[in-house]
Amino acid sequence: MTIVTTTDLSMLNLAQSIATAAYIVAALLFILALSGLSKQETARRGVVYGITGMTIALVATVVLVVANGALVPDDVTAYLGAALLVGAVVIGGAIGLWRARVVEMTGMPELIALLHSFVGLAAVLVGWNGALYADGIAPELVGIHHAEVFIGVFIGAVTFTGSIVAFLKLSGRMSSKPLMLPGKNVLNVGALILFVAMTVWYVITPELWLLIVVTALALALGWHLVASIGGGDMPVVVSMLNSYSGWAAAAAGFLLNNDLLIVTGALVGSSGAYLSYIMCKAMNRSFLSVIAGGFGIEAPRSDAEEEGEIHETDAASVAELLRDATSVIITPGYGMAVAQAQYPVADLTRRLREKGVEVRFGIHPVAGRLPGHMNVLLAEAKVPYDIVLELDEINGDFADTDVVLVIGANDTVNPAAAEDPGSPIAGMPVLHVWEARNVVVFKRSMASGYAGVQNPLFFRENTQMLFGDAKQRVDDILAAL
Ligand code: TAP
Repeated sequence: MTIVTTTDLSMLNLAQSIATAAYIVAALLFILALSGLSKQETARRGVVYGITGMTIALVATVVLVVANGALVPDDVTAYLGAALLVGAVVIGGAIGLWRARVVEMTGMPELIALLHSFVGLAAVLVGWNGALYADGIAPELVGIHHAEVFIGVFIGAVTFTGSIVAFLKLSGRMSSKPLMLPGKNVLNVGALILFVAMTVWYVITPELWLLIVVTALALALGWHLVASIGGGDMPVVVSMLNSYSGWAAAAAGFLLNNDLLIVTGALVGSSGAYLSYIMCKAMNRSFLSVIAGGFGIEAPRSDAEEEGEIHETDAASVAELLRDATSVIITPGYGMAVAQAQYPVADLTRRLREKGVEVRFGIHPVAGRLPGHMNVLLAEAKVPYDIVLELDEINGDFADTDVVLVIGANDTVNPAAAEDPGSPIAGMPVLHVWEARNVVVFKRSMASGYAGVQNPLFFRENTQMLFGDAKQRVDDILAAL
């Protein structure tokens, strides 16, 4: 029999106090990381804060597990915990490093979706563990414990299958078409009502079959929620799943009695929800409909019907226009990412700035297909941060601008959003490029953008169309300059 001495206990208490202090420091570093990541200039610092916080949290956790093991040195299972922990960190860390090194920028959303599925699965396992090994809980806390188990398993399972479907859709392994089951909203709301009723039941009589049923229900709900969303709208869904995974982690934190997990989960949960809200607002979509899963039926991508005359131009004429300009604004969009045109665009910017032309970028919050998509591409091409401005910062300046280069953007510069109340994108904030003296639109055809909406900008008197691949055309302009 193992005898636990007072010295052992005070050592354990000390380890617990150190771990708690370390967790507070780690939580603060995570908050600093989030605030750092909100601006390009401080993003690198934000990442360093995040890495430091996570390292402190991991070390503190290992110390705690080892201290627990040392309390009962004869018991091999106590050491097993530490060995499993170190093994999991080494294997997980190695796979994470490898994936982060090889992932392409375009493969980022699907990787993130897959990572969220792990958080969901972990929350389900922690919940089940909490249900099967519930010894030593104070009688007055048993009801709360059962509620934590049930809610944790539910959120975790929804996140797990939802993220797997998002991964399959984004990686093209599953059709990106929305699944349209009859009465899908009734199914979703019905599942939620059933979950609430079963939670009450489980708290009163915690029978295992209830947990099995709620796990199956949540797995099906997660699958259905994301399957009914169109592939193009997945970025908003990934951000929502990010939020769900945060709440799943927070639920696991309650079960494991781990304050850091609760704080970190809440940070991820609320920041993910807020990011989804910003994205919905910038796309003029309803936040509630995303949560209900009734979101993202992709508009048909029709070739635009004629709406008057267009004025076609060529690279040499655009070079001429730029030579005479004193102020230029570049508004990039999804097409710049497709063409990988950010490098010649950065070269063009440098050349014009050397000639004394004021060049700035106007970035729409949902330009491209990922939050911050354009910012990342421009940073990759070493465009200085201080000339990359957000919609609100630059929208008043178009009227005083000589030339606007719209590089592969369409919906984000569509005047119909501001001027035509009947347009499907009416009310969506857009970059007012048409107010500039000259607008050059780089695209390959007259095809519509992501929203499938006609763009009257192309037919304006002051707009010239430069057809072709954006990278090719910017290279041509550079050659002509
Ligand atoms: P879009 O409206 O999608 O238009 C992109 C344009 O780029 C197309 O009209 C296309 O025309 C052109 N293009 C494609 N490949 C090109 C190439 N190689 N060279 C030149 N042009 C090319 O882009 P946007 O203005 O960035 O707007 C983004 C849209 O995506 C918004 O509707 C937004 O709501 C939606 N969305 C955004 C996000 C996030 S978080 N950013 C998430 C989901 C949805 P051609 O085919 O004629 O070349």
